[in-house]
Amino acid sequence: MKKDIYILGIESSCDETSAAVVKNSRECLSNVIASQIEIHRRFGGVVPEIAGRNHLLAVMPVVDEALAKAGIGMKDLDAVAVTYGAGLIGCLLVGVSAAKAIAYALGIPLIAVNHIQGHIAANFIAFPDLQPPLLSLVASGGHTSIIAVEDYNTYKSISATLDDAIGESFDKVARILGLPYPGGPEIDRHGRNGKANIRFCPNLHVRGDLSYTFSGLKTAVVNYVHNLRQRGEEIPVDDICASFTAEAVGYTVDTFIRCAEERGVTRLALAGGVAANSYLRSLLASECEKRGFSLFVPPPVLCTDNAAMIAARGSFAFAEGKDIADLSLNAKSVIV
Ligand code: KG4
Ligand code: ZN
Repeated sequence: MKKDIYILGIESSCDETSAAVVKNSRECLSNVIASQIEIHRRFGGVVPEIAGRNHLLAVMPVVDEALAKAGIGMKDLDAVAVTYGAGLIGCLLVGVSAAKAIAYALGIPLIAVNHIQGHIAANFIAFPDLQPPLLSLVASGGHTSIIAVEDYNTYKSISATLDDAIGESFDKVARILGLPYPGGPEIDRHGRNGKANIRFCPNLHVRGDLSYTFSGLKTAVVNYVHNLRQRGEEIPVDDICASFTAEAVGYTVDTFIRCAEERGVTRLALAGGVAANSYLRSLLASECEKRGFSLFVPPPVLCTDNAAMIAARGSFAFAEGKDIADLSLNAKSVIV
């Protein structure tokens, strides 16, 4: 009988310390997430030095909890998969160091996982029958990328953002409106009560190379709000949120759909924290339905940073003996 494979995943690239156990690449046995949102809220964003220190406090307790919830012990693990980049360097180093120590002590392989690929792999646990090839949109605080997943271990970057990531623009717009961090969910909530009756960036359109750009839209919203404040006028927060979301998400979806059409791909997957956005989920679903495309969108808990997606990505690499790292593995803030 084939032995079950248990992979421990560790994620610490930003402000979530997470550990998870995934069985046979597809089954999530535990996914423990210690969020630092409350710690960073008073600063209006993640403070890297503080985040790194808190990862250090949380990392071994979340690993212990993930193993306990999965009902297994350290000795049952076949490998440890860890996010080595992209992300905040001081944060990544905590997860990488913990993973190295565990892998070394147990004498099991260490697997280096690319965070963006991890986000996409969330789909393989959310949809156990899903198979590549597929085209994925990763919309997060750090990335807006279209990636072709050719097989379980071949991810090809098709397009990325030239400046800000979509989540970063959500967070900055929220900040100018005085909404708490993280701004994405706040804009989502306010936007649902507002009307998309303001046009901030009439020139925002699908670019020939399918790349993304969000800094112009973000700046247009910031200028709009400043102008109202200077004139002492009331800020229509809900309408601004609805209008900004309509433009940012509409443009993101148009580009992704155009990319799929140009490449003749009909199986699409969404990933990353912004994939939790209600308008993005519904607009992409309706555009896919119109064209007969199949769309896969993980539940919100698997969209924002978590270690189950890292363990899943690592499991597929482990199965083919890929991305095995040694103790010289270093964290990388950017992966090109
Ligand atoms: O993937 P993630 O957890 O971290 C990164 O890898 O960046 O994504 C975090 C981003 C933040 O910018 C947050 O504001 C955004 O995802 N986000 C949302 C929503 N939930 C989280 N943006 C829009 N609508 C949401 N509901
Ligand atoms: Zn992420």
